[in-house]
Amino acid sequence: MLVQTPPMGFNTWNTFGADISEELITQTCDAMVEKGYRDAGYSYIVIDDCWMLAERDGDGRLVADPVKFPHGMKYLADYIHARGMKFGIYSCAGLRTCQDLPSSFGHEFEDARTFAEWGVDFLKYDFCNFPERADCTLAYHTMSMALKASGRDILFSACQWGHFEPWKWMRSIGVHMYRSTGDINDSYVSIRDIAESQFQNLKFNASGCFNDPDMLVVGMYGKGNVGMGSAPTDEEYRTHFALWCLMGVPLIIGGDVRKIDGFCRDLLLNRELIAIDQDPDCREPFLVGNRGGHRPVFLRHMADGTFVIGMFNLTDNRSRMPFLFPDAGLPWHSGVGLELTDVFTGENLGIRRDDFSPVLEPHTCKLYRARLVTL
Ligand code: GLA
Repeated sequence: MLVQTPPMGFNTWNTFGADISEELITQTCDAMVEKGYRDAGYSYIVIDDCWMLAERDGDGRLVADPVKFPHGMKYLADYIHARGMKFGIYSCAGLRTCQDLPSSFGHEFEDARTFAEWGVDFLKYDFCNFPERADCTLAYHTMSMALKASGRDILFSACQWGHFEPWKWMRSIGVHMYRSTGDINDSYVSIRDIAESQFQNLKFNASGCFNDPDMLVVGMYGKGNVGMGSAPTDEEYRTHFALWCLMGVPLIIGGDVRKIDGFCRDLLLNRELIAIDQDPDCREPFLVGNRGGHRPVFLRHMADGTFVIGMFNLTDNRSRMPFLFPDAGLPWHSGVGLELTDVFTGENLGIRRDDFSPVLEPHTCKLYRARLVTL
């Protein structure tokens, strides 16, 4: 199976937009290796929009911009493969990409062959300039088939922004991950709104095909293509990453891995959190409660028989976060409790059997590993 657990990697768009180059990609690849991202599981390096020339060549093939990418795409694929990683590229289901460059509508099979020749392992496939009278499902299915026919295993990442409830049909046409929302930006409100919009759709997640609520903005600190000037706090980035991991969705870094350091690098490399994201059972978290709204408390069943409890205070006020055991399938008379360990600090909180209601500051979260204990 090409995609057992949510794909992990890096994408150029959030930080660099159109300002991409061969040097950026080779430096990013080196940084992914040297700073531990590759070994933590981030395997795909994806070049987003703006890699191609404004026109196809005489044979109708897409051409990499020779100023930005002087040695062409095969060179980059080889560079990335030699360092044990995988190479991703971008095209679009419409007539032009979102930045008005040539796109794959009507060229699916030739473009998929080109990508395969270049050694591409991942295709992000956008939705701009899609003809009003064309069929969206058919267009994505056509590219899915073109990739299958290309002779190479290529992960198909459909970027269709959640139109027409993609969680209901993307799996059936062979897609491996599908964008379920509009574009994220580097702000707490964007992170919160995107996450909350997908809590109900995670039940469709399973090995083979995953809901993609867009790339991470961790470590951007207000700068870059989707930077908003004012930056989220470290705590807000932690909430962002914890939400994505608990939801079990793709982890695609959008910050500049060459420069991210300290808190955000540790966060992105946090093995406990990545293990939650990559749990082989791929179960969606169960919503235990959401008192007053924007205070979701989840319980996620893990493959090894433990659980993860996630509490997110997404409000602007300090809030008590009640975890009522009967609401999580543990009635008072069960004779069973939960031994809790804080995922971030490693602190063992002992065995709980009654209400467990920590108070959380605004925009912060708590994650606990929980183990059933017979009392
Ligand atoms: C759309 C996508 C983004 C990015 C840009 C590139 O907005 O949703 O993720 O790929 O296009 O132009």
